[in-house]
Amino acid sequence: MVSCLHSWPEPIVRVQSLSESGVRVIPERYVKGPFDRPSSCTNTDVQIPVIDLQNLYNSPRELDQETMARISSACRKWGFFQVVNHGVSHELMARTREVWREFFQLPLEVKQQYANSPSTYEGYGSRLGVEKGAKLDWSDYFFLHCLPNSLRDENKWPEFPSSCRELVGKYNEELVKLCGKLMKILSVNLALKEDYLQQAFGGEEVGACLRINFYPKCPQPDLTLGLSSHSDPGGMTLLLPDENVSGLQVRRAHNWITVKPVPNAFIVNIGDQIQVLSNATYKSVEHRVIVNSETERVSLAFFYNPRGDLLIKPAPELLTEDCPALYSPMTYNEYRVFIRTKGPCGKSQVESLKSPR
Ligand code: OGA
Ligand code: NI
Repeated sequence: MVSCLHSWPEPIVRVQSLSESGVRVIPERYVKGPFDRPSSCTNTDVQIPVIDLQNLYNSPRELDQETMARISSACRKWGFFQVVNHGVSHELMARTREVWREFFQLPLEVKQQYANSPSTYEGYGSRLGVEKGAKLDWSDYFFLHCLPNSLRDENKWPEFPSSCRELVGKYNEELVKLCGKLMKILSVNLALKEDYLQQAFGGEEVGACLRINFYPKCPQPDLTLGLSSHSDPGGMTLLLPDENVSGLQVRRAHNWITVKPVPNAFIVNIGDQIQVLSNATYKSVEHRVIVNSETERVSLAFFYNPRGDLLIKPAPELLTEDCPALYSPMTYNEYRVFIRTKGPCGKSQVESLKSPR
């Protein structure tokens, strides 16, 4: 399996170039099957919870019970929520998003210098998965490693716009802190030791990467998706959405809920690794992205992941005779080969990890 990950199975087409060429009809490879199209079962009346972290601490060591309860309920019932007053500078958020918008406006030749391959995914990409003939999503992206330091290589980050590397460095630092805080909250809410999840992820040696998604305008948005349905394979994701246009949809039973981003909020979601560690007390939730013909969209997805070589398994503290381990142990390095080979496939992978009972 590993050998087929060295090159893309077909020539790469930049969706942005396709969009800017003015095509009125999208190529067949972006046309989704009838049940995967955006039209059906979309609901905009319901919203994912919005949680204010302003009063998370009553005193330096005392967590506020009400805020904790809100987060607990959001993790159990939704797997997705927005946080405000999270402590990250709003200016830094806006500037980082802006610098990436500028990156995608650079000439194609400049971006091509960062063209990625399926062996590491680092750099400028236009597909996820290496299956020949697969249906593709209407988006381009840039993927980079922030942590661990052994994988971080700033030379692979864009040199232009000239402030990009510095902003990404600062943004990463702030988001690692926020994820650390959230990991504590989740551990306490699961009745685990407050550093349980962090330690299970490798302590100081966690992984963190950033994926900047660029969704160009699409002449036939009803036929395709910007990003197909998936759950995030890692631990936890902090998404900074576009401030101008929505696009993210979260699955709730048979409905797709279009998230309405709150200004200056992050959208937090549980990934598959926390589903495994919590033995499905918290579940990763399927989500996808729709596109439109009027406005392009930029989003920054920050993935906080376990160190790649640690075995991730349900916390023994959460297991009883009546509630045995639902998943077999696996390292994150092994786990993520799946999405990197097959591309986004709903929740099929975490489901397939279920141990036979
Ligand atoms: C992702 C993702 C959502 C978005 O990058 O994994 O789900 O709104 N992105 O771009
Ligand atoms: Ni995602």
